[in-house]
Amino acid sequence: MKIGMAADHGGFELKELLKLRLKELNHIIVDFGNNHIDPSDDYPDYVVPLAKAVADGEVERGIAVCGSGVGASIAANKVAGVRAALITDHFAAHQGVEDDDMNVICLGGRITGIETAAELVEAFLDARFTNGERHLRRLAKADPSRRKI
Ligand code: RB5
Repeated sequence: MKIGMAADHGGFELKELLKLRLKELNHIIVDFGNNHIDPSDDYPDYVVPLAKAVADGEVERGIAVCGSGVGASIAANKVAGVRAALITDHFAAHQGVEDDDMNVICLGGRITGIETAAELVEAFLDARFTNGERHLRRLAKADPSRRKI
């Protein structure tokens, strides 16, 4: 799968570790930065370009990491067509895709360790939206662009 990644200084280390794991699994990674640790960098500068790439279909899924995962989630969700969520448990990692068509997973680099993060990302990437009628209805209520006139 072609996957986009982005992180600020709070998420840089986890992004790099996850990138290695995903490359080992033969995923194609597009890294939207940062490409080094800069304590003064700002997560939207990396997360918003990633979110736009997901919305445009340039990458299939996105992984956004900041210190807590909260800022990354807020920034990514400002981009139309992106459904991002901060994930800390396995159930939400796959159910967020199956029911809610989540296309960006947000992680906290200061919260979640690499082994747990790798399992969460694997569950996220393996999951597919079910296209269930009730889920489509709920998504349309949450997102005006998905509503049929
Ligand atoms: C940066 O210090 C930190 O605020 C950021 O990585 C993130 O945790 C914001 O939600």
